[in-house]
Amino acid sequence: MRNNTQSISDKIFGEFDRFLKIVAHKPAAPHTPTPKSEAIDVELSDYDKRNIQGLMRINHTGEVCAQALYYGQAMFAKDGSTHAHLIQAAAEEHDHLYWCQERLDDLGARVSILNPFWYISSFALGATAAFFGDRVSYGFVIEVENQVEDHLQEHIEQIPQEDIKTHAILKQMQLDEIRHANDARDAGGLDLPIPVKKIMTAMSKFMKFLVYRI
Ligand SMILES: [Fe+2]
Ligand SMILES: [Fe+2]
Repeated sequence: MRNNTQSISDKIFGEFDRFLKIVAHKPAAPHTPTPKSEAIDVELSDYDKRNIQGLMRINHTGEVCAQALYYGQAMFAKDGSTHAHLIQAAAEEHDHLYWCQERLDDLGARVSILNPFWYISSFALGATAAFFGDRVSYGFVIEVENQVEDHLQEHIEQIPQEDIKTHAILKQMQLDEIRHANDARDAGGLDLPIPVKKIMTAMSKFMKFLVYRI
């Protein structure tokens, strides 16, 4: 069981501070540097550039959502080890967020203006999942990571090979997401019911549709 000594007001203040840091500021320097950041930039066609900007904006928002989800789950985790696991997973997503932000900056693109909305809804979703117990919470991590891994694969196939910088980032992210899913499975994560997975897929499609554009 968790030994929780923080007051409710401290927790609310801490979460609000985190929310602002994630959606209103550039991410702090990552623990792991951006993969192959020394790669030479290539000239991309206007179409490719616009497409990659949209895809990287989706990936950036995906990392905002992943952090919000895990912090929401961590806040209501039943066990101390689950809490620590989720905080560590969220910290690793911070590195991904930084890498995506850096690539968006390189491409002269902005992040989604909808990020505050996605953060709050993902945090609420994570907190709800935590109420059903730690094994369900880990099950959520597995499903989220599986879905992210799949959409990263779609992006890897869609982005021209010449864009070495973006490929390096996406491939490392994909490896990390696979590990995150495996870690959650090893920690006892349950396989979520099909209807829940379908709702999560629909939400993710809706997010991708909007964020690619704004
Ligand atoms: Fe990630
Ligand atoms: Fe992840």
